[in-house]
Amino acid sequence: MYKLVLMRHGESQWNLENRFTGWTDIDLTEAGREQARRAGELLKAKGYVFDVAFTSVLKRAIRTLWIALDAMDTMYLPVHNNWRLNERHYGDLQGLNKAEMAAQYGDEQVLIWRRAYAIAPNPIGLDDQRHPRFDPRYSKLTPEQLPATECLKDTVARVLPFWDETIAPSIRAGRRVLVAAHGNSLRALIKHLDNVSDDEIVHLNIPTGQPLVYELDKELRPIRHYYLGDPAEIEAAMAAVAAQGKAKKA
Ligand code: 3PG
Repeated sequence: MYKLVLMRHGESQWNLENRFTGWTDIDLTEAGREQARRAGELLKAKGYVFDVAFTSVLKRAIRTLWIALDAMDTMYLPVHNNWRLNERHYGDLQGLNKAEMAAQYGDEQVLIWRRAYAIAPNPIGLDDQRHPRFDPRYSKLTPEQLPATECLKDTVARVLPFWDETIAPSIRAGRRVLVAAHGNSLRALIKHLDNVSDDEIVHLNIPTGQPLVYELDKELRPIRHYYLGDPAEIEAAMAAVAAQGKAKKA
């Protein structure tokens, strides 16, 4: 049996401000750093040891990984960064406040934007300075690979090659793997691992900074999965993520 640990980054400044983030490179808040440290300490206390770590090219996930590795006293581990683990690109919603959008367009519309499997928000324009083609970290990507918006289906399509070609072979080779990524890149991976239907995946919300363990059989099929942290805290954090897209009651 293999064990794989997945972790969403700790709270970011735009999580705190409740803004659609996507590929915007926003850093952790103090609370987010603290979550990452606690996650590392928890992993260490429970006896988890890793051989390799994978993360995105966005600083909220990278820093979460660094802090957790530091707390585990394993900063020497090889870390592989890949854009395929980035958050889902949120198109022209990036930067906007989720609750304000819900007040303006309704909770239903925001739920569609956030969770509909195959419907993407409007793209950002090719000449918009926020387009990833202006960002040197993506200079090796082809124009077809560079998103201007994504739905979860698109995110699944770009996460899976990295799972199939890099993460899964590493696990099969016996390496103990830690993945620090994002709410929707992890939802994409989990959809694939657990074979979650397009309708069911709508209800999956991932809390920030909580290690999630997957036990996998030799074919890398999940046997079971569980969060390591306090169940009540995790339940509340998942409900809070779900509620981010609701208009605030006056
Ligand atoms: C974002 O990109 O805004 C968040 O990291 C994930 O947002 P969501 O839970 O609204 O999809």
